[in-house]
Amino acid sequence: MTSMSPAPGFSSASAPVPDYACARVTKCLFPVAGLGTRFLPVTKEIAKEMLPLVNRPVISYGVEEAIESGCPDIIMITGRTKRSIEDYFDSSFELETLLKTRQKIDLYEKIHKISSMANVLYVRQSEPLGLGHAIAKGEPFCRGEYFGVILPDDVFITEDGVQPVLAQLIDTHDKLGGTVVALERVPPSEASRYGVIQSEAVGDGVHRIIDMVEKPSAVTEDALAIMGRYVLSPSIFPLLARERPSVGGEIQLTDSIRRLIGSEPVWGVEYKGRRFDCGTQKGWLAANVALALEDADLLPVVVDTVKKGVGSKDPKPL
Ligand code: UTP
Repeated sequence: MTSMSPAPGFSSASAPVPDYACARVTKCLFPVAGLGTRFLPVTKEIAKEMLPLVNRPVISYGVEEAIESGCPDIIMITGRTKRSIEDYFDSSFELETLLKTRQKIDLYEKIHKISSMANVLYVRQSEPLGLGHAIAKGEPFCRGEYFGVILPDDVFITEDGVQPVLAQLIDTHDKLGGTVVALERVPPSEASRYGVIQSEAVGDGVHRIIDMVEKPSAVTEDALAIMGRYVLSPSIFPLLARERPSVGGEIQLTDSIRRLIGSEPVWGVEYKGRRFDCGTQKGWLAANVALALEDADLLPVVVDTVKKGVGSKDPKPL
């Protein structure tokens, strides 16, 4: 863990829970306006969130997670090259009519369900000035209430009987009040890619966060890092409005959550589930292979392809 001094004004026992803490979390922001440079050149004109994960777009996994977590109201913060996301969640009159006319009722129902599963609103972030700047664009929709945030690149798969990861965070918010972030323990070599926290464990994978830093440079031990799920207090908005660019020249959400510590409680939850970083080629490929191996139709295709070495110029069967 990198050494960090506690956030100004931090007092672990006394941070009060604000009045608006009692309302249920029903809204979820999806910031999708990032440039996706790690996935270039695909992302030059294609939204990485629309790349297929087996048979549906990456972003649909996050949207289902939000709905299953009790958040049917979804606000996407979009940007250039992201129009296909709007089209995907809109109804497709011509296609639906054609499928009905051709008696392809199963397919019609599948397609129709996509546009009726959630209330999706869109707001543009005209310049990709950072995750914090994107979240600030959600203020008119979430003013005065706690809200969820899903970074859809991070796809979480939970076993049957385990709540979706956003629901795990909402559960902690309901019990303890305040802001909650998803945590994963990462080795020192990976810590510099994430926001890293300093905390006191309060039991059962829940941590009271004392401090946090975005993309620390010198980490020598395993660290608890923030992954792409949050329940945020609306008190974050005035802090974001004053935030200046920091790491990477971007307005960082981590900086504003750090400022919240001390005036309101901020918790971290070590989520239960598997995470795939679909914002990188390697993570996206790993997710496709892992999910295909769990599909009875696709499993033999993956196994045969690997065994035969199909696709290489000089096939070397394993
Ligand atoms: P990332 O850090 O993954 O950035 O953003 P990115 O631009 O998407 O991808 P790379 O790093 O260039 O490859 C984390 C989340 O914040 C959103 C992204 O869309 C992603 O969901 N984001 C980031 C915005 O909405 N706006 C921004 O200005 C920056």
